[in-house]
This record gives sequence, structure tokens and C-alpha cells, in this order.
Amino acid sequence: MRTKQSSTNGISRRDFSRLLALSGSVLLPQQLAAWPAPLAQTPARPDERFWMSVREQFLMTPNLAVMNAANLCPSPAPVLEAMYASTKDMDGDPSFENRQKMSAGKEEARRLLAQFLHVTADEIVIARNTSEANNIVSSGLDLKAGDEVVIFADNHPSNNSAWTQKAKRFGYAVSVISQPNPHPGAEYFVDAATRAISPRTRVLAFTHMTSTVGDVLPASELCRLARARGVLTLVDGASALGVLDVDLGEMQPDFYTGSAHKWPCGPKEVGVLYVNARAKERIHPSIISAYPGAVGVSRSMEAMGQRDEPAIIGFGEALNFQTKIGRKAIEARSRSLAQALIAGLSRIDGVHLWTHPDPTRSGAVVTFRPGNVDIAKLAAALYRNDRIGCATRTGSDRPGIRLSPHIYNTMAEVDRAVAAVGKYMRQGV
Ligand SMILES: Cc1ncc(COP(=O)(O)O)c(C=O)c1O
Repeated sequence: MRTKQSSTNGISRRDFSRLLALSGSVLLPQQLAAWPAPLAQTPARPDERFWMSVREQFLMTPNLAVMNAANLCPSPAPVLEAMYASTKDMDGDPSFENRQKMSAGKEEARRLLAQFLHVTADEIVIARNTSEANNIVSSGLDLKAGDEVVIFADNHPSNNSAWTQKAKRFGYAVSVISQPNPHPGAEYFVDAATRAISPRTRVLAFTHMTSTVGDVLPASELCRLARARGVLTLVDGASALGVLDVDLGEMQPDFYTGSAHKWPCGPKEVGVLYVNARAKERIHPSIISAYPGAVGVSRSMEAMGQRDEPAIIGFGEALNFQTKIGRKAIEARSRSLAQALIAGLSRIDGVHLWTHPDPTRSGAVVTFRPGNVDIAKLAAALYRNDRIGCATRTGSDRPGIRLSPHIYNTMAEVDRAVAAVGKYMRQGV
């Protein structure tokens, strides 16, 4: 690993070591001897060496292969540096005068988010996470008895449980479209939504890429269908933003939500709610306090009191980091890691893949049932013995192990994961 002391934004390695020590991080200051130099430009054909240099931007211990991006991603060095520089600045001089620049930093993050999503800054609300953004929508629309919300079965609880519980309070009906496994093809989703939407339907809520098994839904087609029927769309992008090359200008949802701490590799507890300009008059704010955003919908929907602006600034830096690598390169890389996992796991006797192998139907999430091997024990063995982090699905709905690889994973780690699963399938855990 290259060693270089960062000085570009006023943060020294010593400062950073102190911060980590104070925050109780597992990293000890002396382990920070190597701090990555800025990432080189992405080559025309990014090879494994380039992706190793991306890996070096992350502080994860080198022998640890965490493939859990659908849950939480680490942040690369430039994001940590930006957050620390702003936190140090703010805590060094917390006066209103000095903190004015934090509002400017928040607006810059909004501009970067708008650019990233191919929309305008007027349509961006900086929320705390996808859960909050989904709930701002379900709490903020005028829905009453006689109305109906159509949801897909595999949506996250912040979407489906929220609609269902609020329906009891406000009296509207909820209709659920089932999501068969394996992914039945894009037409299934469009046909099922066409049949489910009735004259009473006000909202169609679905997930761009599911975090359960990585199903990719035909988001643009579903939004087009809903628009033509006068139905609002809420698209949950928690598992798509930061890995799929999302273009909301093309998709045209009414609302789109996401979290910084997932695939964008940004700070924790920062997220985004996109509100299409045409839907602005349909939604009311659920939180009304001080310090609104400066433009468009954020003026009314983002007055949420004091925020962690250094984290919001860090979100902008995470988008810069992704833009520097290249969004198409990121999507291609994550998908090729997932495809390699699918190919390797398919060769293991007894493995049942819940994720569809066709890349037009799935993204960078790979979920499988490891035969009769105990799922919790397998996950524990993978972490303890093989240094592989994954997520488990217990219960009766598509039980198994979920691997969601991202730009900080390598092909060698994929091979290691496949070999380890094969070993435990043969020998037991
Ligand atoms: C599809 C989906 N939506 C929403 C969420 C909630 O995200 P957060 O915990 O960042 O609010 C998740 C989290 O895993 C998710 O996978």
C-alpha cells in the first residue's frame, strides 16, 4: 500500500488517528501508518490491479472481505477526510459566523445529488435515510377512505409496513402484488401492476432493486404506466443508488429514496428523497422545524432542525468519489463480481440460488440456500474462519446467505467465498 500524508483539506494523519481513537473505532492509530494517496484515474479497461487500488481507499483490514453492501458499506478515505475536516472546523469554532459555510456545504451536496440523479437541485430533499424518506412520503400524502395504495410484496418494511399501518389510521386500502421467485421477467411486473391499478389507486410503491434477492424491477415502465393512469410512484432506491447507473430524468418517478451509507459508500444516517417538481404540491412535510434547505422543495420539506452537516458534506464527497471512478464502471464491476459468485456457487452441489442469474433481472445481490447447512452457523464460520462478511436470511421466506459485493471487493475474495461455501457444504460446519 502506498503511504502518503493527506494535506489537501487540512487534515493530518495524526488528527485522523486521534479522531478514530476518540470515536472508539477498532482501528488503532499505529495501524494507520498507511494512508492512501488519491485514487488514480480509472483506466479505459479497469483491471484487477485498478480495483485493488480502489480497495486501498478503504480502511477495512486487508484480509477482511465484507460483501454486505445491501446493508452497509464502508466509506473511502476522501469521505472520511471531508467529514473530519468539517467536524474539526465546526467544533473548533461553532459560532453562527463560522457555521455559515456548513449551509453552503449542504447546498453543494444537494447540487451533487441532483447531478448524480440527473434532476434539478429544486427536487432534492436531504433526508436521514431511506426509511425516513419512504415515511415522509407515506405520511405526507392526502389519502383517505376510498383511496388505495398498490405495493409489491418484496418491498422493505419502511415501505410496506408503513403503508399498511398508516392505512389503519387514515382508512385507505392497500393492495399487494406478489413477487414470485425466481424473477419472472420484466413483463410480469408491468402486467401485474396494470391489473392491480384501479380507479381508486393513488400510489404505486415498489423497489428498484430488491435487497432480498437482487431482483431488478422495470422502474421506467412502471413509472410510465402509473403516470398514464394518474397514479403517484414511490420508488425505493436503497439497493440501487450507488450501484446501478440511476437516471431519474429518464425514469420519471414522483418520489425516489436512498441512503448514503449503502452502495454510495457515504456517511451513516444521511439519505435522499427526490420529489419530482410535478408532485411537489401533492406532499406535505411531516417534520416542521428550523433550518430549511435553500432551494425548491427543500424549503418546505427539509426544515428538520439542526443537521449533521459534516455528514451531508461527506455524502457529496462520496458522490464525487463514485463519479471519479465512473458510474458505468462501478455498475459493471459490481455486476461482474456478482456474476462470478453466481457462476461459482452454481457449481456447488446442493446450493439453490434465489437470485436470477440473468443480469437483466438481477443486480449485485446474490442470495442462496446452502442445502441443509445451518445458515447462522455457516455465516459465523465464514466470518470467523474465512474472514468473509455476509448477511443471513432466516425464516421461511427464501432462507439463506446473501452476498452483496461492491467496488472494494476483489475477484480473489469472490473465489475465497465460493471455495469456503463449497468446503462447508462438503464437510459441514
Ligand atoms: C430496499 C430497502 N429499502 C429501505 C431500506 C432501509 O434503509 P435505511 O436503514 O438506510 O433506512 C433498506 C435497508 O436495508 C432496503 O434494503
